[in-house]
Amino acid sequence: MFKRLQQKWKVNGWQLLLIIGTFALGGSLCGYAGRKILGLFAIDAALIRVVLYILLITLLWPLCVLVISIPLGQFPFFKKYIARIGKRMFGRRPQTTDYRPQEEIVIVHRLSSDHHQQPQTTNHKPQTKNLAVFASGAGSNAQAIINHFKNSATVKIVLIVSNKPEAGVLKIAEKENIPSLIIEKEKFFRGNAYVDELKQNGVEFIVLAGFLWKVPSALIKAYPNKIVNIHPALLPKYGGKGMYGMHVHAAVIANKEKESGITIHYVDELYDHGSIILQSTCEITGKDTPETLAAKIHTLEHKHYPSVIESLLKSPLK
Ligand code: GRF
Repeated sequence: MFKRLQQKWKVNGWQLLLIIGTFALGGSLCGYAGRKILGLFAIDAALIRVVLYILLITLLWPLCVLVISIPLGQFPFFKKYIARIGKRMFGRRPQTTDYRPQEEIVIVHRLSSDHHQQPQTTNHKPQTKNLAVFASGAGSNAQAIINHFKNSATVKIVLIVSNKPEAGVLKIAEKENIPSLIIEKEKFFRGNAYVDELKQNGVEFIVLAGFLWKVPSALIKAYPNKIVNIHPALLPKYGGKGMYGMHVHAAVIANKEKESGITIHYVDELYDHGSIILQSTCEITGKDTPETLAAKIHTLEHKHYPSVIESLLKSPLK
């Protein structure tokens, strides 16, 4: 349970301990204040007591927790946590389409194709956008993306990048005649993150498709808002370090979730954290295993990832 909380809140063990301590101290302080207030005004009426307790829980408890979190160094966590709960209680619900049991799609960031922009009627040839796909595994998503853009006049996959010389995706690159680059840890994390090589190949946009290394800040700075990732679950759940491949699906099944899905998001310096572009869900039945769930997720990924990339590339890259 503690491991799951750590993953959910993206904190280490020590921070989790301080957070739980803060919750407990905040609760006791709030209870103590409640008893004092009731005693002070000698309040007996049940209705007033109920109202008072509601106020204590919704206002005083978060306040106590916030105050205690300052000396314990957990203020930023609680500020975000309370803001999120406040938004959930009082804010507007995110707009979703009608619930469809088979597959629900929630587009969080509007994609450029939704803007109904008319293409400009000029005689200029459409500009080609050059893409690199980073992958560490079999590369079925890379293949789906390659297939999608095979006859495109505007998008070209110029490079396949992998950290694993034996990765299936490199065989795909060879078969499809796409140049590939095998990267090394030292240079990726402590060198220039291969920015020079990417620029030399004309790479303008980076797609992570099952790439298992964290993206270093040198690369994020060189490609701001131009790196996207696909995660095989509904973030923020089941994300973070160690949550990849079958580990994700096994955790989802073990928790008896009723649905899972995919998340396409921008990449920032934390694992599975950048702003979400699109989520799409699938149902989980009692018969599902991590393997059958993985197959459902792959189907969703192959269906949505290429077209989301296409939509993102339609807006001018800055
Ligand atoms: C996909 O499930 C993707 O969501 C995750 O890694 C997996 C890669 O699969 N990030 P493949 O190599 O594209 O088949």
